[in-house]
Amino acid sequence: MMQNTKDIAMLLAINHMAGSPSEGAVSPMTTEGLSALKDCYMKEYESYKCKNLKLDMSRGKPGPDQLVLSAPMLDVLSSQSDLAASDGTDCRNYGCLDGIPDAKQLMGSLLGLPAENMIVGGNSSLNMMYDTIARAMLHGVYGSPKPWCRLEKIKFLCPVPGYDRHFAICQHFGIEMVCVPMNEDGPDMDLVERLVREDDSIKGIWCVPKFSNPSGLTYSDEVVRRFANLSPKAPDFRIFWDDAYFVHELTEEKVPLLNLFLEAKKNGKEDMVFVFCSTSKISYPGSGLAAMGASFHNIQNIKMQMTVQTIGNDKMNQLRHVRFFRDKEGVLAHMKKHAQLIRPKFQLVEQILERELGFCGIADWSNPKGGYFISLNTQPGCAKRVISLCREAGVAMTPAGATYPYGMDPSDSNIRIAPTYPTLEELKPAAEIFCLCIKIATIEKMIAQASGQKTAPQKAYAIAQ
Ligand SMILES: Cc1ncc(COP(=O)(O)O)c(C=O)c1O
Repeated sequence: MMQNTKDIAMLLAINHMAGSPSEGAVSPMTTEGLSALKDCYMKEYESYKCKNLKLDMSRGKPGPDQLVLSAPMLDVLSSQSDLAASDGTDCRNYGCLDGIPDAKQLMGSLLGLPAENMIVGGNSSLNMMYDTIARAMLHGVYGSPKPWCRLEKIKFLCPVPGYDRHFAICQHFGIEMVCVPMNEDGPDMDLVERLVREDDSIKGIWCVPKFSNPSGLTYSDEVVRRFANLSPKAPDFRIFWDDAYFVHELTEEKVPLLNLFLEAKKNGKEDMVFVFCSTSKISYPGSGLAAMGASFHNIQNIKMQMTVQTIGNDKMNQLRHVRFFRDKEGVLAHMKKHAQLIRPKFQLVEQILERELGFCGIADWSNPKGGYFISLNTQPGCAKRVISLCREAGVAMTPAGATYPYGMDPSDSNIRIAPTYPTLEELKPAAEIFCLCIKIATIEKMIAQASGQKTAPQKAYAIAQ
């Protein structure tokens, strides 16, 4: 739906640049015409700037209203007489390296894994992923011929766009990242299969298989089956299956994800799989439970190393979670309450994107059924400019490039929108300013093109072919 004469002029300009001027259109859009159009949008932009706003769509965090949902959890351990786990373990005392049985059962049931294949860790799954790589660097994983740090080169496959903190771990350890494009149903599996088959320096791949960060898409059954049947050249290749949004549906529609671990087990390849999850966006980020699922061999190997590191994690928090949620159904019922709070936020942002940008096709975006993000692509070469315009107008966004290894999006177009933390009242102007900045950045690009300027080439880096 078009808003006003500015937007009509914008549409004409877009059509003209695309070589298909609208029927009966005004004279071809000249550099002057485009500059005049930019001036009109800039007036609107300046009026927002004068308001000295301080808005934020950068953080994938639950809002305070979501955190209130877990408040009763803080009281479930009030009785001192009953602080034992189901096997009698006194949760006030040392012990249970891999978590109390009740917590392993709860987290395993959410992932569809037996409790014996679970380790319940501390408060952060990202920390468990970091530790897993750190251990691999120092000692190798189960079946490693050598610790990874003794090898000349190690590579990880990184489906893009992806989660910046996965990439940061690789960068921290000097692991070379090889980008793999994402299709609608998951990573390009022809490419993944070929690369891991041919190159034994590829030791792992990062995957966020459900409501992926940032694209929101979920891997198809076929993609999961192909992962479960990979034949990597490296004997110690691992799939890092970060199921961070495993129960984070936004609507009543349950989005299924095939169980990678069980599929791999059917092929005798379960040692290839590390699954991670946490209750960060179920109970409390930073004070929830993190867990990993793995094969018998992997669990033994990890526990052997963990035993040097710690006597055990926070069992009181584990007990608190188990007593509060009770079981999988308890968690799912709780997640429906989260969905009720955040669904209107996603809907509002999507409505504004559609209203402001849908008419002219200068951006495309995801309409996720779950998770925490909307992923948007501007015209190539515009994302950084959009983010900087937003910043100047008081709207914080995730930096452009963050969804790519080394912070470099080769087409400078992907932007991650995080709608959960701001209130609805804050989201409306934030999303409107964001759309306005996209229009301005796009016109600037068109002016540059119309006047024959070359746009700055992006620094090149490898997207695997
Ligand atoms: C894909 C993904 N994995 C992991 C995390 C962090 O999880 P945790 O709080 O359990 O460390 C996030 C947080 O945004 C995420 O998006």
